[in-house]
Amino acid sequence: MATFHRVAEVTDLAPGTGMAVQVGGQKIALFNVGGTYYAIGDTCTHRGGPLSEGTIEGTTVICPWHGACFDLGSGRNLTPPAPGAVPAYRVRIEGTDVQVEVS
Ligand code: FES
Repeated sequence: MATFHRVAEVTDLAPGTGMAVQVGGQKIALFNVGGTYYAIGDTCTHRGGPLSEGTIEGTTVICPWHGACFDLGSGRNLTPPAPGAVPAYRVRIEGTDVQVEVS
């Protein structure tokens, strides 16, 4: 069953930045885009680049290794060379906690 897990404080992540978190053995990239939080798999489907260290443009992130773009809402790969999507996770704010839903 999927449940929400606390992964950070809202103050841990400034707007326009990302960070890597780990929940239940899953590596997740958490982003703050103008106060809206997104969570997708941290591992690029091309060669495993860390998406949490990528450049945010609107609601997409650009892989820091070879430039593939992923949609932050759906995890969908938008440009080559990434051959597939990464998982997307629901995020909620509870008080000052940032929580991610992971099964
Ligand atoms: S590892 Fe991400 S584009 Fe190559």
